[in-house]
Amino acid sequence: MKARFEGLADGLAEFGYAVMDGFLDDAEVRAILDLDVFKGGIGSLKKAGIGNHQNLQLNEAIRGDYIQWLDKSAAPLPLKVYLKRLQDLRGFLNRNLFLSLQDEEVHLTVYPVGSFYKRHLDQFKKDDRRKLSAVCYLNTNWDEAHGGQLRMYCKDGKIDILPFGGRMVCFRSDQIEHEVLPAKRERLSLTGWMLDLMLT
Ligand code: OGA
Ligand code: MN
Repeated sequence: MKARFEGLADGLAEFGYAVMDGFLDDAEVRAILDLDVFKGGIGSLKKAGIGNHQNLQLNEAIRGDYIQWLDKSAAPLPLKVYLKRLQDLRGFLNRNLFLSLQDEEVHLTVYPVGSFYKRHLDQFKKDDRRKLSAVCYLNTNWDEAHGGQLRMYCKDGKIDILPFGGRMVCFRSDQIEHEVLPAKRERLSLTGWMLDLMLT
């Protein structure tokens, strides 16, 4: 696995983003999909980014996904496997790209059929702890015809990434604008960020 992290480190250093297939293998993806949280569809998740009622409509026009934050200590084993791998990746990137990433935060994400997330940056205006975005997809038998691409706006143009199960995409949270295109199938992922120290 370590050798395979190299491709991610190289891509991040050179282009500000990178893609790695098989970050989770098929059995690891299946074990996550078998968890109760996914069995109930979006029933046990929360609408992402809801404020008050007025914001609700606004949010709907910007993002339509449902999320559940992972609690690192209480997460079921298949998710602990994922968190451990992400932690290993963070260590690798710290050593190889001379970063000082301290922690990661991850939520489960479900995009219902037809939902999307309009073009945005992942860094908050008043909180720049998020340095790297790391999204791992959980969609078995995904086909190009299903849509649901992650579209990244890079300096050389746009790049579309299909959300194949086990695939990991990493990108600079402060630099790469991106959006999630609507899909013909429910679209599942683990969405996370590697965090730096808060310097206040
Ligand atoms: C996000 C996001 C990308 C994806 O949750 O901020 O941009 O491909 N996700 O799911
Ligand atoms: Mn994003």
